[in-house]
Amino acid sequence: MPRIAYVNGRYVPHAQARVHVEDRGYQFGDGVYEVCEIRQGALVDERRHLDRLDRSLRELRIRQPMSRAALSHVLRETVRRNRVRDGLVYLQVTRGVAPRDHGFPAGEVDPALVVTAKSVDPVKSAGAAEAGIAVITVPDNRWERVDIKTVALLPNVLARQAAAEAGAAEAWFVDAKGYVTEGSSTNAWIIDGEGHMITRSADRGILRGITRSVVVDVLASEGLELVERAFTVEEAKRAREAFVTSATKLVTPVVQIDGQAIGNGRPGAIALRLRSLYHKHAEIPA
Ligand code: PDD
Repeated sequence: MPRIAYVNGRYVPHAQARVHVEDRGYQFGDGVYEVCEIRQGALVDERRHLDRLDRSLRELRIRQPMSRAALSHVLRETVRRNRVRDGLVYLQVTRGVAPRDHGFPAGEVDPALVVTAKSVDPVKSAGAAEAGIAVITVPDNRWERVDIKTVALLPNVLARQAAAEAGAAEAWFVDAKGYVTEGSSTNAWIIDGEGHMITRSADRGILRGITRSVVVDVLASEGLELVERAFTVEEAKRAREAFVTSATKLVTPVVQIDGQAIGNGRPGAIALRLRSLYHKHAEIPA
């Protein structure tokens, strides 16, 4: 079945999907994106993802590409045309196509919109979670507005490549004071010896993950104590459990940090429980 992409008003074969060379996303990384899980054909937490998209667009003063209802339709239609039952839908909005100049284009330039969808084997991703992942730590060399979900991801790309070259699945960024901020594409969590669920507060130092927000709800329902504060790499290495959250990895246990085993070196029971409860707390249309 050929894959289909939505590009600026048209559904086109994925292999032929193109954006203009003067698209500001290509020229400047001047755009934002979202990634949403698809589960049994339904979009998971679409509302919260589109709320965050609105915020990212507002912060960067990029116009809405279309109404929410229209965008929601394009997301659904892209999922449908690709016959994705379990997988991911990606959307990118850029400031549009205009002659190269750093300042915003003069006049009314339409934002550009691309939507793609792909299938992911849920059995495979569950298997990866059950095995747990290794992470490495790298200095956080990103700009100060990482709360905006921008397509300008070069530090994240380099961090993830460093992880891959070290045989790890994710890199955790560490700020100048030695505190973990978040992963290259995930939020970072630890559980200390007293069972506190610790994750950095969602200020401008991290992206406010939608998965993170849902996990906060799961903790409340399970009577687990949430502590929103920064933690150091040393603390993380001594933690009882560690895990990451994202739309792509859901809740995935971390079993190693910089080569050091976490807890007993196996995926933590609490992290796996949170993963099993996750979809009960996410917003998924029936
Ligand atoms: N990444 N932090 C960063 C830097 C991220 O890029 C992401 C998501 C998250 C988790 O956010 P959420 O729970 O809403 O997915 C945290 C997506 C999945 C990606 O870039 O592929």
